[in-house]
Amino acid sequence: MAVTKEQILEAYQFRHACKAFDPAKKISDEDFNFLLETGRLSPSSFGFEPWKFVVVQNMELRERLKPVSWGAQGQLPTASHFVIVLARTKGDLLPDSAFIQHMMREVHQMPEEVVGRFQEIYRNFQDNEFKLNEHDRLFFEWACRQAYIAIGNMMTAAALIGIDSCPVEGFDRAAVEEILTDAGVLKGNLSIACMVAFGYRAEDPGRPKSRQAMEDVVEWVR
Ligand SMILES: Cc1cc2nc3c(=O)[nH]c(=O)nc-3n(C[C@H](O)[C@H](O)[C@H](O)COP(=O)(O)O)c2cc1C
Repeated sequence: MAVTKEQILEAYQFRHACKAFDPAKKISDEDFNFLLETGRLSPSSFGFEPWKFVVVQNMELRERLKPVSWGAQGQLPTASHFVIVLARTKGDLLPDSAFIQHMMREVHQMPEEVVGRFQEIYRNFQDNEFKLNEHDRLFFEWACRQAYIAIGNMMTAAALIGIDSCPVEGFDRAAVEEILTDAGVLKGNLSIACMVAFGYRAEDPGRPKSRQAMEDVVEWVR
C-alpha cells in the first residue's frame, strides 16, 4: 500500500472545516483536477451519478452569494476554488427520463435487453422499496445523499495532498438558486445540494477535534 494507515488518519486530523483561506495561495490546475476526478469516480446508486459540480471562480458571483450564505462568510471571498454541488431532481431521475436513458445507454453502454431489465429493477426500487414516489422532493433528497458521498471523497482526497476544505450548508437555498438561475448557472432538472470550498488555511484551527467516544457511535452485534 502506497499510503500508510497513520498517514490516512493524519489527513483526517488535518481536515477541518476551514473558515478562511489564504487568498494568495491558489490550488494548481493539476491538483484541482485531481480533486474533481475523485468526485467524478465516487460511487452512486445504480451508477447514475446524479450530481454536477459547478466551480465558481467568478468573484462577482461569489460576492452576490455572500449575503445569502451565512455559513460561507470567510470562505466565499478567500477560497482558491469554490464549488456548488448540484443534485438532480425528479424530472431527471424517473426511469424513462432522458438523463437516465442516457446513463444506461451512452455512459454504461448497456445492451437493449439489459436496459429493459435494469429499468424495471430501478422502477421497483423507486416505487416500492425506497418509495421515492411518495413525494417529489424525495427524488432530489436521494440524489443529495449521493452527492454528499462525492464531496466527502473530494475533501478527504484534498486533505491527503495538504489542501484544506469546508463543506457549507449555511445558506438560503431559494435565494442562492435565484442568483444562480439569474446568472445562467442553474438550469434544467438540478437543484443545490450543498457547497464546498477548497484552498489553503489562513491560520491553524485554534482547537483540537471534538468527537463523541467510539463506543457512543458504534454498536457491535455479535
Ligand atoms: C453538511 C455539512 C454542512 C456544513 N455547513 C457548514 C457551513 O455552512 N459553514 C461552516 O463553516 N461549516 C460547516 N460545516 C462544518 C461543520 O461545522 C464541521 O464539519 C463540524 O463542526 C466538525 O468540525 P471539523 O470538520 O472541523 O472536524 C458543515 C459540515 C457538514 C458536513
